[in-house]
Amino acid sequence: MSVDETDGGSWSTRIGFILAAVGSAIGLGNIWRFPYQVHANGGGAFLIPYFAALLLAGIPVLLVEVWLGSETGLTTPLAIREKFKESEFLGWWAVLNGFIVNAYYVVILGWSAAFIVFALTHGSTLPTGDLFTAFKAFLTSWYPVAGVIVVWAINYVILRLGIEDGLERANKLFVPFIWVLVILLAVRGMLLPSGLDGLEFYLTPDFEALTDPSIWISAFGQIYFTLSVALGIMITYASYQPEDQDITNNAFIIAFANCGFAFLAGFAIFPYLLAADATATDSIGLAFVVLPKAFQTIPFTPIVGAVFFLLLTLAGLSSSLSLAEAQVGPLRQKLGLSRAKTVNAVALAGVTLSLVIALEGPLGLLGSGEAVGDSLQLLSMFDTSSATYTLPMIALGETLIFGWVYGVGAFDGGQRIAEAANAVSDFSIPPRLYAVVLQIVVPTALGYTILSQIVVDGK
Ligand code: PFF
Ligand code: NA
Repeated sequence: MSVDETDGGSWSTRIGFILAAVGSAIGLGNIWRFPYQVHANGGGAFLIPYFAALLLAGIPVLLVEVWLGSETGLTTPLAIREKFKESEFLGWWAVLNGFIVNAYYVVILGWSAAFIVFALTHGSTLPTGDLFTAFKAFLTSWYPVAGVIVVWAINYVILRLGIEDGLERANKLFVPFIWVLVILLAVRGMLLPSGLDGLEFYLTPDFEALTDPSIWISAFGQIYFTLSVALGIMITYASYQPEDQDITNNAFIIAFANCGFAFLAGFAIFPYLLAADATATDSIGLAFVVLPKAFQTIPFTPIVGAVFFLLLTLAGLSSSLSLAEAQVGPLRQKLGLSRAKTVNAVALAGVTLSLVIALEGPLGLLGSGEAVGDSLQLLSMFDTSSATYTLPMIALGETLIFGWVYGVGAFDGGQRIAEAANAVSDFSIPPRLYAVVLQIVVPTALGYTILSQIVVDGK
């Protein structure tokens, strides 16, 4: 292995790492998925399983990843290998999975970027009447292909600039800005006549719902995607830190900033939906059909629409950058290539797969689904296989290795990690407790999530 340290680059400050990690975590999932999940799964009561999932399943795995990257200074597969030689493949599996997620993630970002332009130029968000039909027409046009090219071009430039000049600077700009945008939208939303209805629709707790196991599964399923774990990102990002960073503190800041943003996004969505008396059947439909329709019913439609899609685009860009870096870092390190060459290769492969996905529409291959998302066959296939199945499997693999076999034969991985983290942190986690969570609670929750998904999809 040849690691060219000087070419690798690192964050210039602790804040640089935290902002980049938060930028990765906050994305499409926070804005269109979380709020709707809350509404559909017991309103405010859903926050209970959600925070249980965060504390019992999300943060423990995030902590493993931040610790692993910080301690080894190596990107995903090589960091895993350093601790447990036989498991390097798990890291490469995560890298591959991140590549697939990014390919379709960029397609959606391309739509979002196009919608900024539509919002500003058409007053509403799409030129023609019925928005469902209009969105389907949009999907068969060449706009999504153009969107892919634009988004990949932006990613490419930032990735080529490197960690400090590219990723760190982009996130320092994007992350504070998306908070401003979501707060603006939320405040405007709450001031609408439907503001309080929106709040009620979003949060009225239905504690009965908590007796339904599927609600707990949704919560546990959402948490890994939203925290950007199990795709190799957090290990790679953490490896670019200066030495001896406060691992525990950083992990908690990342997790709570991410979930706080998701919570806030509900305030920026439901007042608008209720203003138009609208509901949605899936997340794609929510963002690209129902919300644009809702925006038409309120004053300053073009501006509100543009702000929403700018928010979606910037939140997604910082996630997409992290997904791409999760391949760039490991490939560069493993093969001893320059950053420039690696970025060229990753971007070329990525834009190719994104284009294949975006071409489904113009080539007339869309299916005829009720929900908008159903007609996008390639996109849904990649999403289901990589995010619903593969992601929890990789997380399970990581947990088993670091909870049980890290150190080979010593069954105290969790305890060691907690002690290592405590040594550099100004607040400490009880090592025994952490060990039990990592060895028992997390794998049980993940195993149950994976099995129940198989059962649900098998029906
Ligand atoms: N966390 C981001 C979201 O919720 O949209 C998306 C994401 C980024 C998922 C990076 C996974 C990932 F590795
Ligand atoms: Na993001």
